[in-house]
Amino acid sequence: MNNKILIVYFSHKGENYVNGKIKNLTVGNTEIVDKKIQSIVGGDLFEIVCEKPYPQNYKECTEQAQNELRQNIRPKIVGNILDISKYEVVYIGYPNWWSTMPMPVFTFLESYDFSNKIIRPFCTHEGSKMGKSESDIKVLCPDSIVFKGLPIWGSKVSQDDKELYEWITSSI
Ligand SMILES: Cc1cc2nc3c(=O)[nH]c(=O)nc-3n(C[C@H](O)[C@H](O)[C@H](O)COP(=O)(O)O)c2cc1C
Repeated sequence: MNNKILIVYFSHKGENYVNGKIKNLTVGNTEIVDKKIQSIVGGDLFEIVCEKPYPQNYKECTEQAQNELRQNIRPKIVGNILDISKYEVVYIGYPNWWSTMPMPVFTFLESYDFSNKIIRPFCTHEGSKMGKSESDIKVLCPDSIVFKGLPIWGSKVSQDDKELYEWITSSI
């Protein structure tokens, strides 16, 4: 276990858009990748959980997410990290929502001081890859070292280990 690594994720169970179809996910795509990363690098896991869960219904969820993005809302999240200062590297994973991160990830990144820490973003998506999430992270965390992100197709989360290893061992 490497106790200087924190692996954070937001992931949405329930109806989702996978391979062009609505599918009911019992475990979210990003959660699958997140746990693989932890099994490779060790470290502590933290799930970003909203006070008010998103709708299970895909259409309702996308509408809510779009409204939150347009209004730049910061949904409340529950739980907290006791001692952020001990971490040097923070992996942060999320689904691509409307070409960036879900707004609770914005809430999370504004809740702690990530100065001088390495941030390694990854996302699952259905075609938009990282979208503008990396540049949004750089705005939220101007004093962090933000590495190049890893986008993984949602339908391939159970397959992409080679690419995942290469990304984990890269240092940019
Ligand atoms: C609210 C919402 C918005 C989405 N917006 C996009 C998008 O803009 N681009 C894209 O490629 N995929 C988009 N997707 C698809 C998700 O990024 C994809 O299904 C992802 O793998 C879901 O991960 P999760 O199961 O961890 O939540 C969206 C999905 C939802 C629910």
